[in-house]
Amino acid sequence: MPSILSDRRDSILRLTLNRPALRNAFDEDAIARLTAAVVAAAEDADLRAVVLAGAGPVFCAGADLAWMSKAVAYTQGENRSDAEDLARMLERFDTLRVPVIGRIQGAALGGGVGLASICDIVIAADDATFALTEVKLGILPAVIAPYVVRKIGVSAARELFLTGARFTAQRAREIGLVHEVVPESDLDAAVDRRIADIRSAGPGAIAVAKALIREIAGANPKDVIGLTTGTIAAQRVSAEGQEGMTAFLQKRKPGWSA
Ligand code: COA
Repeated sequence: MPSILSDRRDSILRLTLNRPALRNAFDEDAIARLTAAVVAAAEDADLRAVVLAGAGPVFCAGADLAWMSKAVAYTQGENRSDAEDLARMLERFDTLRVPVIGRIQGAALGGGVGLASICDIVIAADDATFALTEVKLGILPAVIAPYVVRKIGVSAARELFLTGARFTAQRAREIGLVHEVVPESDLDAAVDRRIADIRSAGPGAIAVAKALIREIAGANPKDVIGLTTGTIAAQRVSAEGQEGMTAFLQKRKPGWSA
């Protein structure tokens, strides 16, 4: 069985980590497959969203520790190149045009928190647990750090990176890692509600909004006036902007709405 299952239907790509016996721990093969999937997704003009999920009882137990421990036999250059593959994959997901929805059951640990952090919307089961366990293993969350710190902030990162402590889905929501907590049996319905929202919105507007958030995050508002005004000026005269506003005024659904 492939380590990643890919199912593209009705303009939605569902990627499922598929090593349930190892709690979906990922190795270089899984990283390569996820990279190939995200490269294809970036070129898929009709795609509206990606759902990232895990097969079996646990979303993702992070990096495969058997794979990581073999690194002692690698040169420093080989170790760096391995880490770069993960870094590039995360960056590609992070900059994907369409929203990425994370569906988390059981646990998200280490790199699993990293995967949650490159999702735009994260929905977790109410009994899911989270942790950045790396320091307990004598390593640290490094490649995932920019994405995790951006999600949860420096204060929570210092607490959670430095202790490896487990935390609940409720806490994950409080610190911004998770957006919605539901009983596990409601996860699919919660994901479908988000997909319905995304389908009702202009795909171009979503893509521009996603890129804009990345560009303005942390900026001084006055330094980005040119960027923000230029962005809305272009979007409101675009075919999509005109269709959306006209459809509202004419009390009909816009053309992109399924
Ligand atoms: N890498 C490699 N193998 C892993 C793994 C990982 N990150 N996480 C779990 N596994 C393996 C276990 O070794 C076990 O293998 P075995 O059946 O050959 O003994 C199998 O997956 C099932 O794990 P188990 O602990 O029995 O399942 P569980 O459902 O009771 O618990 C977890 C699941 C995820 C909570 C638990 O496995 C865990 O804490 N894993 C460590 C995760 C971690 O610290 N990741 C950070 C990596 S940087």
